[in-house]
Amino acid sequence: MAIVGRSNVGKSSLINALVRRPVARTSAAPGKTRLANFYRVQRGAAPALYLVDLPGYGYARGGDDAAREFNTLAEAYFGRATNTAGGRSGPPTEIAVLLLVDSRHPGLESDLDAWDWLKAQPVPRGIVGTKLDKLTRAERVRHARELERLYEAPVLLVSAQSGEGLEELWKLIARLPKETAA
Ligand code: GTP
Ligand code: MG
Repeated sequence: MAIVGRSNVGKSSLINALVRRPVARTSAAPGKTRLANFYRVQRGAAPALYLVDLPGYGYARGGDDAAREFNTLAEAYFGRATNTAGGRSGPPTEIAVLLLVDSRHPGLESDLDAWDWLKAQPVPRGIVGTKLDKLTRAERVRHARELERLYEAPVLLVSAQSGEGLEELWKLIARLPKETAA
């Protein structure tokens, strides 16, 4: 399961919250994660899976450069995933991608571009809104609706800080790789 999204959206924090251990380095300043990091996770009796923390897009550069940067990263990841699929060991044989977007800012262009790009890839994908703890009650309702309208997909809102939505996210992570990419 690859975790992608803008720099500082909370990818590494979410992985730490999911595994309840500070395995991934996080930072208040964007551009912290510089390389793809694979975390092997074994939960209960479920088969082991990999959570892949990727560098964020949109850091230090903007516009077309950001999109190109994202493509390079994504292709590197998918290329690697494809090459090792069916192999004896090593990273993912079942892949899926979660796009993280900041719940406070629905509809950022770089996020919408990333989603369009993902929709053209032959992998199951889902969208997660981060930092839910920062929204007021009214915003929760309004932003959830707005996100689903913009992305034309279900959007799960979570908080790495409060833990809200994490159980549901685990269920999505278990389910998503089994879905066929539409
Ligand atoms: P890059 O590695 O630079 O791409 O960033 P990232 O997406 O991995 O973000 P990271 O997890 O490092 O978090 C960025 C900042 O957001 C940190 O200051 C985190 O503490 C904060 N943050 C992450 N998740 C949450 C959350 O659920 N709630 C709140 N309030 N802050 C969060
Ligand atoms: Mg990170």
